Amino acid sequence: MATAGKVIKCKAAVAWEADSPLVIEEVEVAPPQKNEIRLKVIAASICLSDVYHMYKGKPKDGFPVVMGHEGAGIVESVGPGVTEFKPGDKVIPLYLSQCRDCKFCKNPKTNMCEKDWSGNQMFKQSPSEIRFTCRSKPLLQFMRTGIFSEYTIKNKIALVKVHDDAQLDRVFLFGCGVSTGYGAAINNAKVEPGSVCAVFGLGAVGLSAVMGCKHAGASRIIAVDINEERFEKAKILGATDFVNPKLHQKPISEVLIEMTNGGVDYSVECVGQVDVMRSALESCIKGWGVSVIAGWTDLYDFSARPIQLIAGRTWKGTSFGGFKGKDDVPKLVLDHMAGRINLDVFVTHNMNLDQINEAIKMMMAGGCIRPVISVSK
Ligand SMILES: NC(=O)c1ccc[n+]([C@@H]2O[C@H](COP(=O)([O-])OP(=O)(O)OC[C@H]3O[C@@H](n4cnc5c(N)ncnc54)[C@H](O)[C@@H]3O)[C@@H](O)[C@H]2O)c1
Ligand SMILES: [Zn+2]
Ligand SMILES: [Zn+2]
Repeated sequence: MATAGKVIKCKAAVAWEADSPLVIEEVEVAPPQKNEIRLKVIAASICLSDVYHMYKGKPKDGFPVVMGHEGAGIVESVGPGVTEFKPGDKVIPLYLSQCRDCKFCKNPKTNMCEKDWSGNQMFKQSPSEIRFTCRSKPLLQFMRTGIFSEYTIKNKIALVKVHDDAQLDRVFLFGCGVSTGYGAAINNAKVEPGSVCAVFGLGAVGLSAVMGCKHAGASRIIAVDINEERFEKAKILGATDFVNPKLHQKPISEVLIEMTNGGVDYSVECVGQVDVMRSALESCIKGWGVSVIAGWTDLYDFSARPIQLIAGRTWKGTSFGGFKGKDDVPKLVLDHMAGRINLDVFVTHNMNLDQINEAIKMMMAGGCIRPVISVSK
């Protein structure tokens, strides 16, 4: 392409500091360096993790930053050492890398990767890794992605090529939310046919967990949310029972235990609050109940009575639904293309990059599941 090897000036949404709206800026995106790919971003959306970084977590580090990590695009150019991608390929950025080389990548039990930044270096990018500048200031890329930009740069270990016919304004959802919830049910909880499940929180993560429970053959799926508007979509995806914790005096775990004669076989927490994580665990049946934490927070410790686990329950967490990005995302895309995964149900609004703050406000107020943000024209 004519832009290959050159700095691209384009539009991006920048968070200059915590607790402030994004600013649409003209930024410079450097050409891809060794092992890197520069892509034109076609579609993206907001995940609660973006909102958390900007407004809820109050991190001191990590600014100024190009926000966004859930999206899809088309390869514009590649740097030296890249053979797996070529201009024109449809791609999905991975916030969790898969280098295929480290002890984690080689172990089928996990989707962690030693070269991944997110576990211990969330807000660190060394000066040699900076690819964005704005008014001569270096900009970080949120989750090493920075998808709210017409162009962005990814390392080859954190990008996956998907089918040429993939619908980018839908499959971008596999970049975070839908993979996370769906995988939490099928990979982490390992929901079994005929089982009884509960999903706490019905955003994109929770709704895809409902879908995962349904696909795994659950006979009963209890959808729990304080926002009852979410129940309709949960029903479309397979939920059979609906519970609004605000309408109950007693702890929600007691309500679920009564409804299920002892507790659910599997629960998935998709809210990101430690008290809800505890409720999700306590809603599980003793003996074999499994509770998976998909929601994210690092502000508080959680607690539970040891007897909950001593009595045979299992408590675990998930990152990216346990999927190994390079291996599994192309398969999820094929499942969508074959009609086995409904993505339309998650898309509530169509917006463009200039409307990003409006979209974030809507997300914070619970007024949308996922708006599709058209990033490049
Ligand atoms: N583990 C991972 O890899 C991963 C990946 C993506 C997102 N996340 C996290 O998953 C969580 C959900 O993300 P999302 O984008 O779906 O968010 P969202 O805001 O769209 O959905 C959250 C839902 O939880 C509901 N809720 C709030 N309080 C509740 C309560 N007390 N009980 C029941 N429901 C309640 C809200 O009404 C909302 O419907 C966030 O914490 C996000 O950071 C984790
Ligand atoms: Zn996310
Ligand atoms: Zn690895």
